[in-house]
This record gives sequence, C-alpha cells and structure tokens, in this order.
Amino acid sequence: MTAPVVFDAYGTLFDTGAAAARLAAEPGREALAKVAPSLAATWRDKQLAYTWLRAVAGDHADFRRVTEDALDYALEAVGLPHDIAPELMALYDRLDAYPEARACLETLRQGGRPTAILSNGSPAMLDAAVSSAGLGPLLDAVLSVEAVGVFKPHARVYDLVGERFGGPAGEVLFVSSNGWDAACAAAYGFRTVWVNRRGEPVDRLPGRPWRIVSDLSAVPALA
Ligand code: LAC
Repeated sequence: MTAPVVFDAYGTLFDTGAAAARLAAEPGREALAKVAPSLAATWRDKQLAYTWLRAVAGDHADFRRVTEDALDYALEAVGLPHDIAPELMALYDRLDAYPEARACLETLRQGGRPTAILSNGSPAMLDAAVSSAGLGPLLDAVLSVEAVGVFKPHARVYDLVGERFGGPAGEVLFVSSNGWDAACAAAYGFRTVWVNRRGEPVDRLPGRPWRIVSDLSAVPALA
C-alpha cells in the first residue's frame, strides 16, 4: 500500500484560535474581545502542558477533559467569568479548518496518497471537527490517542499509523504545526514536515523536521 500522509489536527488542519475569536466577534462580547488572543494562547499552552504532564504522571484523561481544564485555568488567568466555558467548548467542535487544508488533502488524494489524522483529540471531538469542516470524505483514517490511552509524543501514539496502514515508518509523511510533535515524530522515524506558521525557532529536541514550510499548500509537492 502507498504510504500515507498523516496530519496532526489541532493547529495543523484546524485553527485553535478560531473558537475564542468567533465568540469575541459576537455583539456584546467586548470583555472577551479585549483578551481573546491571550485567552486562546493560554488555553492552548495549558492544554498541551496538561497532556504532557498527564502522560508523564500516568494519569490519562481524554482530550475533552484536558481542554476543559485548560479553559477553566485560562478564563481565570484573563479575568473572565467561567460561565462562557460551555460556549467556547462547543465552538471547539466547530473550529475553522485552515483555508488551504481542503485543497492540500484533495491534491494528495488525487495523487493516490492515503491521508489521515493522528491526534490527541478524542474520537468524538475529532468526528465533530472533521465533519463540521467537511473534511471527512478526504480522509482515509482519523486516528485518536484514545486507542492507546496516552498523549503525544508517546511512541505508542505514532505506532498507530503503522498498525493502521502497515509499511515502514520512514515512508510515512507526517505533518504537524507543533514544533515538538514534528521533532518527536521525526525522532520516531517518520519523514516529518513542520508547518511553522508563526516563524518560531526549531525546537531543541532529539528529532529535527525533514522540511519546514509556512502553510499546508507546500505539502503535496513534498509527498
Ligand atoms: C493534536 C494536537 C497536538 O491534534 O494538536 O494532536
């Protein structure tokens, strides 16, 4: 079987800043609008930190719980009331896909490459985001860490790709906008593309991405 092109979900195909930004754009949301970028950044930072801490501590909870906990922290950090949490969590199920995501997946599929998501997201969260963005028909598999009960970058998570598609890890093209995910997937043995949307420095971790691009439109030419 032709080796797949495997995408991280949050921050790579889906814009995690979109939930806070969308609610902030509603009338009467001035208090949120003032702090939306900072809320989104703290929410994301804590969400990832909690995944790593839970993995190290051996205390797994699914990504929805971790995302709710991180949001609870972030709302307090920016001084917003907790009663907007349910609305923000609901929007997390309908995140915008990045504008170039669809064409990227379509081009890969037209070229005969299987495509997949490999994500920390729970199956229900991923199903919701994929179907809301209309990407379902363009994906051969949506692989969730819930199958192994530990978060990225544990090797058991990256193993899910070989278990689903077979073939050597070195033929898999793995695409992530998270520098740490790209580094750890490269150390695992995937050919890795880091989508460095914000021009961040390369993470100082054992693995190095094979290629660095600024958005998904550059990916099909590398596959
Ligand atoms: C994911 C997170 C890391 O989708 O963005 O797995």
